[in-house]
Amino acid sequence: MNGNFNLEDLDLFSQAYVQGAPEIWKELREQCPVARSVSDGGGWLPTKYEDIAAVAYDTKSFSSRDVGVAATPDGTSVLVAPPITSDPPFHADVRRMLLPFFSPKAVAEMADGTRLIARELLDQIDPTSVVDIAEEYARHIPVRVIGSMLGLPKEDSQMFTEWAVDILQSHPDEWDRRNRATKDILDYFAELSRARRLEPQDDLVSKLHAEVLPNGDSLTDKHVIGTCFLLLLAGMDTTWSSISSSLLHLAKYSDDRKRLLVDPSLIPTATEEFLRAYAPVTMARVVTEDAEIGGRAVKPGDKVFLPFGASNRDPEMFDDPDHIVIDRQENRHFAFGIGIHRCLGSNLARMELVIAIEEWLERFPNFSVAENEEVSWGGTQIRGPRFVPTIIH
Ligand code: HEM
Repeated sequence: MNGNFNLEDLDLFSQAYVQGAPEIWKELREQCPVARSVSDGGGWLPTKYEDIAAVAYDTKSFSSRDVGVAATPDGTSVLVAPPITSDPPFHADVRRMLLPFFSPKAVAEMADGTRLIARELLDQIDPTSVVDIAEEYARHIPVRVIGSMLGLPKEDSQMFTEWAVDILQSHPDEWDRRNRATKDILDYFAELSRARRLEPQDDLVSKLHAEVLPNGDSLTDKHVIGTCFLLLLAGMDTTWSSISSSLLHLAKYSDDRKRLLVDPSLIPTATEEFLRAYAPVTMARVVTEDAEIGGRAVKPGDKVFLPFGASNRDPEMFDDPDHIVIDRQENRHFAFGIGIHRCLGSNLARMELVIAIEEWLERFPNFSVAENEEVSWGGTQIRGPRFVPTIIH
């Protein structure tokens, strides 16, 4: 067992876990398979697909009212963002309303704009120095794409990235940092929501104000603000992490990179494998009634963590799961979650990922991880490479 772990005392925020989660899940799966984390309020960590799926499907015993992995001082969620923090029956109405914005057709219309964003970022990269793919390329694509959907000025994107990092990647002890960023984001969206309600434009915020719920009510400002907040947070660190891990893989494994250069039509299939192998998201649930997970009794109020990446590495679900096969044929992975909360933005995320990889390979076909520099991973709720020092050949 990894020296920093014992099955009854995991620290999900430790560097050992953040850097090496897949290896730790493997050990836990073989030994527990439902581990207990005692750090930061504590909670249960199932590591087999079967147990993770059972929790995700059982919305009665496991509520989404607090999906944050980091505990909050008073046990309430910092994220009030329908539909991700909603339970049935309210969840379905809110989700249904958002679906058209993320349909394959709506996403296809955003592809050209995304390609332009990628090219603009590539233009700014100096290929003669060490390039940090995560910082200089990957992190900017999702925030600009969602920003343009919401109608945010481009110059605000840096501020949004910083807020999202403060909320999703800070250590649980840094409560003030999370709280401040949340307040700043909500204030920003409150202003935006009010402005668009008074003077609608051709953006998602204005369209949300025009929506009507099945009971005939319009959306409140609070609802619109919460939805903007969710889209920004759900779409940013996740996609940033996935673009970074995909390009890190291609920097490390030149055979896979060369294969994609010879046959770019394989990029969408390879993207699915990167999503499977490097799935970034862990969500939480709150136990609402006495229940069991994989034979372990859990009590109302307990937190449960759902590491979807662990489902993707479960040998009962995938052949040779730790081996990354860029043309894997059977690949119904769980990077986008399981059950009613399955990712609403998966079409958008896939489009961004494929375009980010295509454009990078087109501009810089030959690249590798810089020697003498260490790649680092960050995040527990949204885990991904945060420093990818790269040499362009
Ligand atoms: C590679 C990128 C992404 C990954 C891996 C990912 C993953 C996930 C996962 C695992 C969930 C399930 C949450 C749960 O069970 O509690 C989820 C939900 C969600 N995601 Fe994504 N996501 C990505 C990108 C996006 C993007 C780009 C957007 C939109 C801008 C988005 C919007 C949402 C929304 C709105 C939900 C909540 C759906 C619901 O509660 O019904 N995601 N995502």
